[in-house]
Amino acid sequence: MDYLQINGGKKLNGTVTISGAKNAALPVIAATILSDSPVKLTNLPNVVDIRTLLKLLTMLGGKVVHEGTVATIDNGSITSHKAVYEIVAQMRASILVLGPLLARFGECEVSLPGGCAIGQRPIDLHLKALESMGASIEIKGGYVHAVAPEGGLKGAKIIFDKITVGGTENTLMAAALAHGTTTILNAAKEPEIVQLCVMLASAGVSIEGIGTSELTIEGTGGKPLTFPQTEIIPDRIEAGTYLCAGAITNSEITLNKVDVEHIRASIDKLESMGFDFTIDGDTITIHPAEEIKPVNIITVEYPGFPTDMQAQFMAVAAIAKGESLIEERLFENRFMHVSELNRLGADIWLKGSTAAVKGVEKLYGADVMATDLRASSALVLAGLVAEGTTNVRRIYHLDRGYDDLEGKLAALGADIIRKREQK
Ligand code: UD1
Repeated sequence: MDYLQINGGKKLNGTVTISGAKNAALPVIAATILSDSPVKLTNLPNVVDIRTLLKLLTMLGGKVVHEGTVATIDNGSITSHKAVYEIVAQMRASILVLGPLLARFGECEVSLPGGCAIGQRPIDLHLKALESMGASIEIKGGYVHAVAPEGGLKGAKIIFDKITVGGTENTLMAAALAHGTTTILNAAKEPEIVQLCVMLASAGVSIEGIGTSELTIEGTGGKPLTFPQTEIIPDRIEAGTYLCAGAITNSEITLNKVDVEHIRASIDKLESMGFDFTIDGDTITIHPAEEIKPVNIITVEYPGFPTDMQAQFMAVAAIAKGESLIEERLFENRFMHVSELNRLGADIWLKGSTAAVKGVEKLYGADVMATDLRASSALVLAGLVAEGTTNVRRIYHLDRGYDDLEGKLAALGADIIRKREQK
């Protein structure tokens, strides 16, 4: 198994180019199931989750040509409608094939994703929405078996009890091929949702309210879509992570190919911690702070502070001058990085869903273990400033969602290399 070895204490400088967004690319790839002709996607990030979903499509019978950041997907040849456990267990987001498979073929089976390190993560809201559209759903042998009514899914009014990104995406894709109008209330508004709406609209699906919490979709009544070439938006979480790399090392670094509007919440928090920014189009530079101040954070849905940036900010807060409070409101168990950061000398106290982070003068290198995707990047960030050597183990989590993290950090001047565990 690979691990990352970091010798801390190096200042960073230079420019890093941000990749396409994993969380935008996944629903875009799932949406290609709504088409029976080839779709070309560009600016895909080079991460394991993308390859996993593309593999799932080939297992269904789709034809995928994937090279670098570009993939051409032809789902005209899909013969199987079953997303098997072996793939879904590797990546929860595989559940995103449920809506489009059901909408296009009228029947499908998708393995239940189960829980994960950051919490239970149920899919009840996805299923309830599809049932409102007339689907019969049965859970048997670990699989969701969904069947559309005679003639196909029907438009419906769906009110989400809770804002759900994946649930909104599945419903949007199902609604695109349904008969009649679907209204989604309390829809998620994340940039990834906007990208999916724009993609569906580019194929002629009428969608009102894009970017708001009320979406109205006119379905095609079962007619497959034809998509023009689609470019994946920049990854706001990767961008936020590099801003935190600049912040924790108190260095000046520049990020290219960023959508600054998507990272406003992270910029605001870093400004309150004492950092300045220069913004020029899709380029942003973070400037060092005279003193890193503590910060108070509550994770909420977009456009508020993202849960996917919580761990990285905790790493920065660990060396701030003073005490920070970080409250996690989206996932009940998303604090696995706390004990690992404390192994590096951080002083973090956890009570319920809030972490009190007392800034320390110094972190010290140690062996730490990655527990989930974003927690892993927080440990890497801490390793960049920890005195001595930090080994971050179980980095398969990182590989799921960060495109060449160690290569990009090394190019900025970090002393970081990937090593293989001796058996
Ligand atoms: C997506 C992101 C993930 C991010 C999360 C919140 C992808 C691939 N993943 O995950 O990185 O952290 O949004 O911004 O885009 N819930 C239910 N029932 C459901 C669905 C969700 O109770 O049927 C709950 C979840 O447990 C969680 C909350 O709703 O507490 C939000 O989850 P959701 O927005 O659905 O997250 P994901 O789409 O899984």
